[in-house]
Parts: sequence; structure tokens; C-alpha cells
Amino acid sequence: MTLTLAHLSDVHLGPLPQGSAWDNFALKRLVGALSWNLNRHKLHDPTISSALVEDIKRAAPEHVAFTGDIVNISAYAEFKRALRWLQFFGDPTWISFVPGNHDAYVPVPWENGLAHLGPYMTGDPAATTSMFPYVRLRRNLAMIGLNSAIPQPLTKAAGTLGPRQLEMLPRLLRDLKAKGYYRTVMIHHPPLPGLAPTRKALNDATLLRDVLAREGAELVLHGHNHRHMLNVLEGPDGKIPVVGVPSASMSGAGRYEPAAWNLYEINRHQGSWRTQVSIRGWDSESQRMVSRSQFMLPS
Ligand SMILES: [Fe+2]
Ligand SMILES: [Fe+2]
Repeated sequence: MTLTLAHLSDVHLGPLPQGSAWDNFALKRLVGALSWNLNRHKLHDPTISSALVEDIKRAAPEHVAFTGDIVNISAYAEFKRALRWLQFFGDPTWISFVPGNHDAYVPVPWENGLAHLGPYMTGDPAATTSMFPYVRLRRNLAMIGLNSAIPQPLTKAAGTLGPRQLEMLPRLLRDLKAKGYYRTVMIHHPPLPGLAPTRKALNDATLLRDVLAREGAELVLHGHNHRHMLNVLEGPDGKIPVVGVPSASMSGAGRYEPAAWNLYEINRHQGSWRTQVSIRGWDSESQRMVSRSQFMLPS
């Protein structure tokens, strides 16, 4: 019995829809639109994220984790397009999404913003008691979705979980472990202290690290830094791999790594979980997704 899980992040769908900079005016959104038009549009190529999605569909994993930043400046029109893009990608029961800082770039009424992505971040009714953290159970896989995205001041891209999510998480992790699930925690910001500059970091990373170290998890997935990352946290029954992926639309121009997604193949072996990762990345020469590497995660 092999469980298969895909992880992608930071699609940053472009180009910006007409009028994004000025509609529902917010200064940060205007500055974000200028930054997109000057520079960021050269880094994020929607044809690459489409190729990456086709590659995931071909691999047909059992479930997909998408750790945020689907839009850029939280323009209302961006959320409508993001929903169409997700619908083309796959069924909401197959894809689990958590928001990134660009999906909460400025305060947006729920119904004009993240509500569009609601079906992709709705927990199973029997396993979830709040919007976040949500829990989805897929065979032996438990997907736990955290929301670290709250609007930030002009020059910041930080995140915060807040006391309510941090209070609910330990009991969820404990219950799911007792039931024998492979616990996968999804969060946009890197979840441990020191993995991002303060301006862009998760403010309560120390508290989250303490919860994870105390209760354990089989896998923690994040985005935000737009590069491959593998960190290991010591848990109560073994190592907890904490893995980040590059932006799913990155051409590889400039200082960022080209787009990639990770495929996890999870097996139970002599009473413990074993996880193999296969990295699939964008090759700018052949203009297609290729196999990059394959290795076992520490456990
Ligand atoms: Fe991002
Ligand atoms: Fe981000």
C-alpha cells in the first residue's frame, strides 16, 4: 500500500488582470502592481505553471498539497481567475490549499477573496471543527491545513498563526497519531525559526516548532522562500522532515531556482513510515518538466 502526495507552491498567477492596481484601492496593492509590472512578471511564467500542473496530472498522485501564493496582490479579479485555474487543475477534494501572504496581501472581504478558494481548503466535516486548522483524511493520509496569511504592513511579508490555531494543533496531531494516520502539516511560511529573514518570517515559528517537536508529524510542507529546502526537526518518535519547494511558475531567470514540484511516495515498513521524494523540475533548455532527483526522507 503506497500513498502518493504531490506538493507545489507559489504559483503567482499572472498577468495581473486589467485594473488590478486601482480597483478597490489600497496603497500596498498599488505598490505591488508596480513591482509586478517592473520586475516580477519576468520571473513568473504562467506557461511554466501550466506545464507543472500537466506533469502532476500525468503522475496522478492520490492527493495534492498547494501551500499558497496563488495570486499576487489580492485583487478581487485575481481570486476569480485563481478559482478557474484551480478548477482546471483538479477537483477540490483532490487538492488541499492553504493561503500565502500574497493571498492576503491587503485586507479583502472574505467573499471577494479567499471565499473563492474555499472548496479547496474545507476540512472533512467529521474531522474538522474550524476553518483553520482543517483536516482532510485520504486513506492513511491526514492533511492538516494551517493559515499563516494575514495582511502585513507595506514592506513586510511575514506571517502569523495566532493562539487559536496553535492551541488546536497539538490535540489534532495527538488524535491523528493515535489513529495511525500519516500526518502532513501544510503551511505557507517556513515553520521553524531562522528559515526566513524577520521581515518575511513566521512570527510565531518558535511556538509552532515547540508544538511539532512535542507532538510530532510525519511531514511538514511549506512554500514562500521560492527554493528547495529540507530541514529536520527532532520529534518525540523520530525526525520530522520540513520541506519547501520553489515557485511553481519560476523560469529560473535571475537568482531563483526554476519551478519544481515534489512527489512523495509513502509506505509503512515494519511499523514505521518511510517516505521517498522525487523532485520534478522545469528544464529551460528542453522547455519541459524533467526528473531532478530522488531520495528517502529522514524518519
Ligand atoms: Fe511566493
Ligand atoms: Fe509568500
